[in-house]
Amino acid sequence: MEHSYIEEISAHEGHEVIIKGWIFNRRSSGKIHFLMIRDGTGIIQGVVSATDISQELFDTVSTIGRESSVIVQGVIKADKRAPGGYELLIKDISIINSSQPYPITKKEHGIDFLMERRHLWLRSSKQHANLRIRRSVINAAHDLFNKRGFTLFNAPILMPTACEGTTNLFETDYFEKNKAYLSQSGQLYAEAGAMAFGKVYTLGPTFRAEKSKTRRHLTEFWMLEPEVAYADLDNIICLAEDMIKAIITTVLLDRQTELKTLERDTEKLKAANSQFARISYKDAVKIVQETNSSFIYGEDFGALDETVLSNRFSTPLVIHRYPKKIKPFYMKTDPEDNELVLCVDILAPDGYGEIIGGSQREDDYNILTDNIKQHNLDQASLEWYIDLRRYGSVPHSGFGLGIERLVAWICGVKHVRETIPFPRLLERLWP
Ligand code: 4AD
Ligand code: MG
Repeated sequence: MEHSYIEEISAHEGHEVIIKGWIFNRRSSGKIHFLMIRDGTGIIQGVVSATDISQELFDTVSTIGRESSVIVQGVIKADKRAPGGYELLIKDISIINSSQPYPITKKEHGIDFLMERRHLWLRSSKQHANLRIRRSVINAAHDLFNKRGFTLFNAPILMPTACEGTTNLFETDYFEKNKAYLSQSGQLYAEAGAMAFGKVYTLGPTFRAEKSKTRRHLTEFWMLEPEVAYADLDNIICLAEDMIKAIITTVLLDRQTELKTLERDTEKLKAANSQFARISYKDAVKIVQETNSSFIYGEDFGALDETVLSNRFSTPLVIHRYPKKIKPFYMKTDPEDNELVLCVDILAPDGYGEIIGGSQREDDYNILTDNIKQHNLDQASLEWYIDLRRYGSVPHSGFGLGIERLVAWICGVKHVRETIPFPRLLERLWP
């Protein structure tokens, strides 16, 4: 007999299959038990009738606890009323492990209680849905870059220097003599990759020792960073827009069940999937100042300002050309206004904040080394990076997408901590 995953159950209608999973829920009424069985790919209702199995087994099932692991055998029947559209008429059931009383119950639990038990909470429907959507988001991005001929170019995590400023670096000893830092971004290495392969992307964990306790900040998050030789700011904005749209399209196509579980308003995702709104930093400041009169031109936007801005539009919002003063050393100075840099932030709708940060890179040797001095960075440790401006420097651009922030918006979950299996936060390194 064939083992089937619940996700593929429709192919087995009318046939007998084996399902290997866990008891999600049990209800009994007289001579019938209804078992909700999950196997990681879906949930199916199994019906156990006293007439189909031995009395002893029927009695055992009547006390079976949540999350007990089971292997069941039965016939798949289409049933419109059943969640998922199919039911399993169970003929045999073996209990692999009878679970101890499961700590996560149907009642409301506080967030701390759940985060302490993240290793178990992952089994709950909403957490499960978030992470399945995360997987589709990453797959859709890989697909797009693959189709467009990008080389996957994994950047290192142990770094000799900072990329995004020195204030939020995690430092560690590197054997006897040296220090290493956990990567804040793979960008500098991706730039070397772009000069070798033309177009590359890196995807991996990145780290920020940020003392921020907000719903958008993790200390360890995943960033996807494409980098393209001969691309200018406009080219890279178009790439970012295409990528987000491809991701939304894939999720809408493949993850309807999960979006329903999360009660996500999919009309909002569809509305976001059209030509992105684009404004300059200067115009964004005007919008912000309408509601926040203390905002001064030249500052970076705070979370509330970003919410005001994104609420104006139904698509993600592209904001370009910020003041040079508030941006990192590697961004290219705007040839039309040397107080600005050729950079872009993309804000998700509904107040989810910045999901993408990117720029055209400074490709001029003299300006770059000048920027390094201005930012008080150690030029010696960046010599390899400066080499990219000595040997065949070309205009090039790239961006970084924060996977968890994008997933949070797509799922409609408030806090990024639910969009990664084991979140690392200012006050949490457990489990
Ligand atoms: O804007 P950021 O800092 O840009 C960079 O690191 C560039 N070097 C990327 C590049 O051009 N290749 O970070 C990029 C994105 C942000 O827009 C945000 O989505 C996410 O990374 N991000 C975080 N996500 C969760 N927690 C944090 N603490 C984050 N910090 C940044
Ligand atoms: Mg940024």
